[in-house]
Amino acid sequence: MQNILGLLNIVRTNVIKGFHLPILIVLFVMIMLVSAQEPLRKYADQVNLNIGTTVGSAFYQNEQMYKDVLSREFNTVVCENEMKPYSLQPQQGVFDFTTPDKLVAFAESNNMKIRGHTLIWHSQNPSWLENGNWSRAELLALMKDHITQIMSHYKGKIFEWDVANECITDGNNNILRDSFWRKIIGDDYLDSAFNYARLADPDALLFYNDYSTETINSKSDAVFNLVKSMKDRNIPIDGVGFQCHLIYNMDNSFYSSVEENFKRFADLGLKVAVTELDVRIEKPIDQSKYQIQANDYRNMIQIALENEKCNTFMLWGFTDKHSWIPSFFQGFDDALIFDRDYQPKPAYTALQEILEDAATEIKADTYNINNRLMVNNLMVVIDNKSGMYSHLDLYNLNGRKCKTWPLLKKEGTFRIHLTNENVSPGVYILSLVSKTKIVTGKVLLR
Ligand code: XIL
Repeated sequence: MQNILGLLNIVRTNVIKGFHLPILIVLFVMIMLVSAQEPLRKYADQVNLNIGTTVGSAFYQNEQMYKDVLSREFNTVVCENEMKPYSLQPQQGVFDFTTPDKLVAFAESNNMKIRGHTLIWHSQNPSWLENGNWSRAELLALMKDHITQIMSHYKGKIFEWDVANECITDGNNNILRDSFWRKIIGDDYLDSAFNYARLADPDALLFYNDYSTETINSKSDAVFNLVKSMKDRNIPIDGVGFQCHLIYNMDNSFYSSVEENFKRFADLGLKVAVTELDVRIEKPIDQSKYQIQANDYRNMIQIALENEKCNTFMLWGFTDKHSWIPSFFQGFDDALIFDRDYQPKPAYTALQEILEDAATEIKADTYNINNRLMVNNLMVVIDNKSGMYSHLDLYNLNGRKCKTWPLLKKEGTFRIHLTNENVSPGVYILSLVSKTKIVTGKVLLR
């Protein structure tokens, strides 16, 4: 918006100076260009958000439109089925990376990041593994081999892995699911999985991923206790993924609970990620339901952007043409952000608007918040000429005060090197405080 006003100003000045029509036309085109909305990934890059989608069979069948929209809109991908155990190790000791490697190559050539999904799960396993008559030691060795081979193959290419998926049971008695992993190895099988994963690729972020754990509820309590205990015992876990397969029209209390829930996991020092978002609509479906669905997407991305530990926001697909929903949830469909003709739905526009807002607010590395407070990358410069300001506060986006620097009402220019102050990169609010005035600004510190 400010760009447009700036250009309008140039137009005004030039008109006054008597410039001619061609210049006005060029300026008009420039105005159209700056105001044109950009793909999601353009804004997401500016706020360090991994915005991604799962990629399924349409990609491998070379559906061109699918590939075009995929690379235009997203900076991150995850395989829908192709990195699951049945697919990567169809026979004992025989690993087949051919199919997912096609997506990895595509992602690399389009400058996209890759999430890995999933190493240990009770579902989609090859039958030789699931039905084998293993001892604890044998199954641990197979687990180690599976994790090590796969993570080594993708070392340096996959930034984040779902090491374990859906290990807690549903309902009110939320315990470790009685999968063959647990039955044979015992309750400590997850500890081993994460240890093997850390050894295989020490740079990859290691996640526990699950569904119906978005809000504070008995299942998310169980996941919380599980990962907290892992942290307490120095098991190498870096984050928790929340699948987020939602039904449209969730109410406000749902979203405040999601926000609180993400916060409690983040407070454990873990990353949080939205890993498989889709918002399914009950049939019959009409346009008014699309508007409500847009609101659900809007709420979710807002929660993600506001949590400083959340920088991965993945959808489970992007076009209603290809989605797991109709075959898994009878009577529901249209859960994604593009329609069957790859036209953006209101949900797409909602994500775009929120991302654009977030990106434009913190676009520049160097800028004046006002003429007293300037930020240059990781340096804050305060011009306290009059000596009226008493201190500078730094808040995170949840409103928690992270730091205070006293200025002691001294006159002069203050420079605070955030690099030396242990401030990690991210989005913050800076607030310069005097008795009568507070100057605030949202900043991206890189
Ligand atoms: C689903 C895929 O989308 C389907 O194609 C497949 O038939 C079954 O799995 N949670 C997960 C994903 O962690 O792996 C699931 O993906 C969806 C639910």
